[in-house]
Amino acid sequence: MSDKKELRSREWFGKNDKMGFVHRSWLRNQGHPDHMFRDKPVIGICNTWSDLTPCNAHLRDFAEIVKRGIYEAGGFPFEFPVTSLGETIMKPTTMLFRNLASMDTEETIRANPLDGIVLLTGCDKTTPSTIMGAASVDLPTIVVPGGPMLNGKFRGKDIGSGTATWQLSEGIKAGEVSEEDLLEAEVCMSRSAGHCMTMGTASSMASMVEALGLCLPGMSAIPAVDSRKKVNAHLSGNRIVEMVKEDLTISKILTREAFENAIMVNSAIGGSTNLVVHLIAIANRIGVELTLEDFDTIGSHLPMLANLMPAGTFLMEDFFYAGGLPVVLKELKEHLHNEAITVNGKTIGENSANAKCYNDEVIASFDSPFKKNAGIAVLKGNLCENGAVIKPSAASDKLMQHKGKAVVFENIEDYHARIDDPDLDIDENSIMVLKSVGPVGYPGMPEVGNMELPEKLIRKGITDMIRISDGRMSGTAYGTAVLHVAPESAVGGLLAFVENGDLIELDVKNRKLTLLVDEEIIAERRKNWTAPAPLADRGYVKLYIEHVQQADKGCDFDFLVGGSGSKVSRDLH
Ligand code: FES
Repeated sequence: MSDKKELRSREWFGKNDKMGFVHRSWLRNQGHPDHMFRDKPVIGICNTWSDLTPCNAHLRDFAEIVKRGIYEAGGFPFEFPVTSLGETIMKPTTMLFRNLASMDTEETIRANPLDGIVLLTGCDKTTPSTIMGAASVDLPTIVVPGGPMLNGKFRGKDIGSGTATWQLSEGIKAGEVSEEDLLEAEVCMSRSAGHCMTMGTASSMASMVEALGLCLPGMSAIPAVDSRKKVNAHLSGNRIVEMVKEDLTISKILTREAFENAIMVNSAIGGSTNLVVHLIAIANRIGVELTLEDFDTIGSHLPMLANLMPAGTFLMEDFFYAGGLPVVLKELKEHLHNEAITVNGKTIGENSANAKCYNDEVIASFDSPFKKNAGIAVLKGNLCENGAVIKPSAASDKLMQHKGKAVVFENIEDYHARIDDPDLDIDENSIMVLKSVGPVGYPGMPEVGNMELPEKLIRKGITDMIRISDGRMSGTAYGTAVLHVAPESAVGGLLAFVENGDLIELDVKNRKLTLLVDEEIIAERRKNWTAPAPLADRGYVKLYIEHVQQADKGCDFDFLVGGSGSKVSRDLH
């Protein structure tokens, strides 16, 4: 707190009148002595713990550790729950609820007597949703990323969350993996607390948090069960109290430079394409202009340094032992905005200046990278007027320039019903097209863009084909998948008018995705098209369908863009 700025919580606890009595008295039932209400920074611990979110199940204990740090630094902690989003459990997809969780976070923070915020996050959407909500309030905010699981271990080999699932599933189709193998692998893959330990979406989001400067340095890669994670949670509790005193609000950290840093880091770690929608949504909340094209121009010329699944060999535990994200930041120092400020009050350049790499097989140097082609390529063309994305590091070089005939699936159910039909007219040169999996059409834009190949082609030894959809892809997945096509098919994007046998050309080098069909034919198809009926006529899903923006805008609700600050317009009376 600067000398002039009074703590926000004083509006609740600072008066000895009737409302001061009301605000304090009921909280006294938890046994807080009077001095705790007198001029101490009040810190909210926003917890995404839930038994139904396996990746965050350990965060209940972490809240207690954060509290220790807050008390020690002279703050007054209050833990509160927000909507938790368990990626592997929730139907139809957690992305449908990301904005709901962000609204929950935003409104809970603003409505309560809080001066600073600690966000406890882990599973994919729990990170962006809470940051989006906190950004719209703009208090001092620090993130405690929950940390990855320990490496999966299966029959003497490391296996990675999600990535192993895709591999085993393909193995079943190829006749190489049995049901017994699958059951044994199930317990071997997820063997400790924490989130997916590949460089999937959760690890990409945690790395994004560190690259944005929102957590203590080096924290994102520490495994959930490593005692050093607890030390950092304690120190985060210490630090948020200081941040309130310094009035180091989240908007002072989330600058355009910080977002550019996050894009560059995502390239260097081979991070998830999901970063695109989440980072744009966060930027829009805080008033920083960030476009889809920025991901290409800022990130795609950089090499990939981290040799991590799904694009590489190793896992997050190895990444941590090799030195973690500070090593990547140091390697990128010629490119990053090193002066960007972070939650510990130091710059990102200062935080990584002394980083050391302990295993250059896991984290390669900038001059001798793991892969040259990294980042996310943004495609344009008549098939994706507002853009689409592809992750070259997860794709096949030979398919980066390809012309093929479309095999169209009208929706995901149609795909499942026909993909393994022996009579399906498809070969390795075909291009698989999936419609109705966008933000409005599904609704919620699920991670189905990496459609599995037909069994008959897998058995022939085919491992990759071009797939195009308006959906997303799990960060743990791989393949030549063109994703996030905007506008999506359900709102009349050209994807809606693709038919079996149409020629499509993908040209990643020139960033082009083109449907090679005459304009008159397309116009005719458009004339005969009727938009699908909305899939909900009440409740949250109706609100979602009516207000969600397209993928190139980050899939946030139109009315949530921006922020309302921390001021509450009307009092409790
Ligand atoms: Fe939670 Fe992957 S399922 S992080």
